Amino acid sequence: MPYFFSPKVLFGSGMLKRFGSEIEGRGTKATIITDKVMAASATPIVEVVKAAEYEVNIWDGANREPSVDLAVEASQVLKEHNPQLILAFGGGSVIDAAKAAWVLYERPEMTGSDLVAVNPRSKLNLRKKAKFVAVPTTSGTGSDATWAIVVTDTANHRKIGFANAEILPDITLLVPEFTAGMPKILTASTGMDVLGHAIDGLTARQQTDFSDGMCLQAMKLTFEWLPKACADGSDLIARGKMQNAATIAGIGFGNSNTSLSHALGHALGSVFNLPHGRSIGVALTYSIDFIATNPAIANAPNPLVQLGLAARFAGINASSDADAAKKIVAKIKELQKEISEPLCLKDLGITEDQMKPKLDSLVVLAAKDVNMYSSPCECKEEQLKQLFMNIWQGKT
Ligand SMILES: [Fe+2]
Repeated sequence: MPYFFSPKVLFGSGMLKRFGSEIEGRGTKATIITDKVMAASATPIVEVVKAAEYEVNIWDGANREPSVDLAVEASQVLKEHNPQLILAFGGGSVIDAAKAAWVLYERPEMTGSDLVAVNPRSKLNLRKKAKFVAVPTTSGTGSDATWAIVVTDTANHRKIGFANAEILPDITLLVPEFTAGMPKILTASTGMDVLGHAIDGLTARQQTDFSDGMCLQAMKLTFEWLPKACADGSDLIARGKMQNAATIAGIGFGNSNTSLSHALGHALGSVFNLPHGRSIGVALTYSIDFIATNPAIANAPNPLVQLGLAARFAGINASSDADAAKKIVAKIKELQKEISEPLCLKDLGITEDQMKPKLDSLVVLAAKDVNMYSSPCECKEEQLKQLFMNIWQGKT
């Protein structure tokens, strides 16, 4: 992509106070969109927004599965309160629900169906009513820094993703203290999502020199700081570094794309009902092995060259790019063991008898996943079957 987008990023513990001066004088009403769990931790951000002379309205109806109906409901709240500032306070699902509600608030003539038909060429004319601030409380999705939204199509049990550059938040506010309450299992699985974003973004067909820089740094930060954030959740330096890694990866893949690990992970997530980060983490080493050992698509970046670059940046000594790819896979497996994340589906207790009947569905879902179009290598049906069996039994 011959362009580069990023929100204004405020990061670090001291930034919560500084945030007040960012929003002062920009309006008189603010709506905070959050969920019931995070609403209990919203007091510090509410106080800062109130001190900047906003009347604050809180809607805590978001949940883990942001659906179109939920976005419509949140947009009704926005239309009633009429804010000039919308803050999304929560994990990726909350931020996605809030982004979708923002679009419907700005464009009241649009229906839920119009919303999911938004594409990169749609002219939305956002920001006539409100600016959008993302305040992430997990370190994984990068939704605070991307121009995409993923919502659940409840009727058809599937996720729908759509993107438009106007949906990029104006500000993302990274306060490490807001992520300190994440349990270890969530820290670990969301951290694996960050690594998936970094490596997918680095090897996707749409990578550029600009996105590479972000993806490389996000990968390096995750290798160094994810084990520390998992070992001690109260370590605010580690929390801050992982928060940075997640947003940097979001900017990286937001200006490139997610690719094979996400195509495989989305299929695994919907068939076995796995959380997003865990399904990406379990697919990641196998997708790297696949793109390192199969011919690259013509005119796509050579994934082996990209993986060699990643290894050098991560300080891995390798004799060749092929050796680098193997060593990155080994390093990720070490990380997964250290943070107690599964290396394969068998580790999750999925038996061969449970796996084999699902193979055809997994192949169909992965083949039609939008991320497959970003894969640097073609992935045929038989190869997908083999890939999923490798993911099941832990074979790279
Ligand atoms: Fe992801």
